Amino acid sequence: MIDLKFHCDIDASALAVETSAAKNLLEEIKADKMADWLTLPDNFDESELDHIKKAAEKIKENSDFLVCIGVGGSYLGHKAIIDALSSRIKSNTKILYAGNSASTISLQAVLDEIGDKDFSINVISKSGTTTEPAIAFRIFKEKLFEKYGENEAFSRIYATTDGEVGALHDEALYNHYERFVIPNGIGGRYSVLTAVGLLPLAVAGVDIDELLAGAREEAVSGVFDEIFKYAASRHILRSRNYDVEVLASFEPCLESLGKWWQQLFGESEGKENKGIFPAIATYTTDLHSLGQYMQQGRPNILETVLSFRENPMPKFTNRVEPDIKIPKMPDNVDGLGYLEGKELGFVNEKAKEATITAHAKHIPVFELELQDLSEKSLGNLIYFFELACAISAKFEQVNPFDQPGVEAYKNEMFRLLGKPEN
Ligand code: PA5
Repeated sequence: MIDLKFHCDIDASALAVETSAAKNLLEEIKADKMADWLTLPDNFDESELDHIKKAAEKIKENSDFLVCIGVGGSYLGHKAIIDALSSRIKSNTKILYAGNSASTISLQAVLDEIGDKDFSINVISKSGTTTEPAIAFRIFKEKLFEKYGENEAFSRIYATTDGEVGALHDEALYNHYERFVIPNGIGGRYSVLTAVGLLPLAVAGVDIDELLAGAREEAVSGVFDEIFKYAASRHILRSRNYDVEVLASFEPCLESLGKWWQQLFGESEGKENKGIFPAIATYTTDLHSLGQYMQQGRPNILETVLSFRENPMPKFTNRVEPDIKIPKMPDNVDGLGYLEGKELGFVNEKAKEATITAHAKHIPVFELELQDLSEKSLGNLIYFFELACAISAKFEQVNPFDQPGVEAYKNEMFRLLGKPEN
């Protein structure tokens, strides 16, 4: 379960009022046709889960790489979890990403890494029409055709898309790709716990049952107290002109999680001239770049720090010591004698405590505490953020589930690229 700790003063009566408002907003969210992610962990279709696991096994048997083609909500969630657990998960099939930009440098790097090794494609797009993944799909399809011939190529393509409409849906039906359906009531950035995320995660060696169990644990906590309080506090601070939130962690492997969070909150809240701008920081690295601003810059920032109740170092490893100890030296020329024999995790934990104490003198700081760095805790956190985000958008009186602003650049790009009008 996620614990919320306050390192700031929020007026208790205002918090009580807004927390009870958050409860009412949950009822509004429940009534929305795009809120099926709320009950997804509890209602997960067993046959779909089976389908995902079987496909993952097949991919692991015949592929050195799975190229996940998708952008935004179609890749950020599974990349977040894979990167977070990268020091522990194992799979003979490596996940590669394509179609999340229009950069030749990035795409060529993926093509080069595959070389003449075996690979499959998981093309993921809810709309089935997004340009960057559609282009990448063509390029990797051509490579599949060249290597395996059309028939085997088709059997190496897994399409995760809408169940009824879209170019990808139509192509998948026509060519008999193995298909996974993104439920109608779940939009891209809320879809990590559907086949969008679960198929790549299962291939990467993530325990998807545990991940779902974590989300379920948070979902059936019933009262959602911590989530309501977090959304209510953000709302109170927003009304006091705090318009930037920095999600900070002390583990570089959580950077991709920050990217997922950034899309979730940015696209859900940032519309109609409203919202809190979501930024991310990785400490202690960024204490030597952003730290100065956090400590003494314009005080319009609220900071949310991710932390762990247990040392996040994986426990299963065959190392004798679970953490790295600072070595003893016969002399003390570097002045580090006072740390001899201490674990690096201890230093990181003290750095976190020190940062919170220092920053809290200047800006409001929250701490979201996970039990550990495991599938279950990440499942807790995903559900926590999804619900907190939807409630936060409702507080701002904007629709948490659309992204009309994303269309503006697309229309202009299509005009410049000469896309024919329909
Ligand atoms: O949250 C969303 O819906 C969007 O950010 C999408 O995930 C993103 O634009 C990709 O769209 P699609 O999955 O339709 O290709």
